[in-house]
Amino acid sequence: MRCKGKIALVTGCTNGIGKETMYKLLEEGADVYMLVRRVEYGEELAKETEGKYPGKVRKVIYFQCNKLETIESAIKTAYEDAGRIDIFINNAIGGPTMAKDNTTVVDTSHETCMGIMEGILGVSAECCRVVIPLMIKGGGGSIVNVSSSTSVQADVSRTYYGVAKAALNMLTQQIAVQYGRQGIRCNAVLPGFTVSQATERALPEEFKEAWLKHTLIRRLGEPRDQANAIVFFASDESSWITGQLMEVCGGYGLAAPMFGDIVE
Ligand SMILES: NC(=O)c1ccc[n+]([C@@H]2O[C@H](COP(=O)([O-])OP(=O)(O)OC[C@H]3O[C@@H](n4cnc5c(N)ncnc54)[C@H](O)[C@@H]3O)[C@@H](O)[C@H]2O)c1
Repeated sequence: MRCKGKIALVTGCTNGIGKETMYKLLEEGADVYMLVRRVEYGEELAKETEGKYPGKVRKVIYFQCNKLETIESAIKTAYEDAGRIDIFINNAIGGPTMAKDNTTVVDTSHETCMGIMEGILGVSAECCRVVIPLMIKGGGGSIVNVSSSTSVQADVSRTYYGVAKAALNMLTQQIAVQYGRQGIRCNAVLPGFTVSQATERALPEEFKEAWLKHTLIRRLGEPRDQANAIVFFASDESSWITGQLMEVCGGYGLAAPMFGDIVE
């Protein structure tokens, strides 16, 4: 029960990493506010948790990354209801990450570039802008930004996804530095290839195979792998850890590139 008595907000928790993180927070005793785009579906999920964790999903609140005004209203609604915020999981992203021209530097349009920066960095920054003063009022708290292993490894495509997540890493450290004395900790988890609706939709089979060739623990990530790391940063177990970027990717990219060619 590492999060017993904590008030936790999770963005984008009807699927994938966010959903698993919500379950893990409940398991660890937190009271959760679900900040979601699909409120009806969120309510269904909340109902499913009632048997095991009665009353622990406090509210399902509308939150749409592509409508900036909903970010402030969702976080403030949760704060007014709970009276404080201890944990904030910055997971959902918006913007045109699936745009066909989200490829190389030359081939990505300015519009797609800026849309992705807004949907990832802009959304996360806005969440932090709103939540930090509210957390400070309660004596502090823990923010966990869900970044990506692509933020520390340049690639042949999807340029601005990596660039925006790299900016999110720096935002994480700026927050750690600027608000540490006021009791705010801020860390980032950098997931590698983790099975989710998004990856199933966006990444072909050959990409998986190529990825696994360079991964030391030879399996794809599960949302649970990410939730375990996220909740570690969220909980007091990491109370002396801030400004850290933790890759959770089975050791992807750690070995020299030849490893993928010669080790079965
Ligand atoms: N799955 C991976 O391999 C992987 C790797 C690196 C980073 N990540 C990061 O993990 C986070 C979650 O990704 P996932 O793989 O679990 O995705 P997912 O598609 O499984 O889930 C995304 C969640 O966000 C919600 N969402 C989507 N668009 C939204 C919007 N405009 N407004 C509000 N909510 C919205 C969805 O409803 C869903 O609940 C993202 O920040 C992603 O960049 C994932």
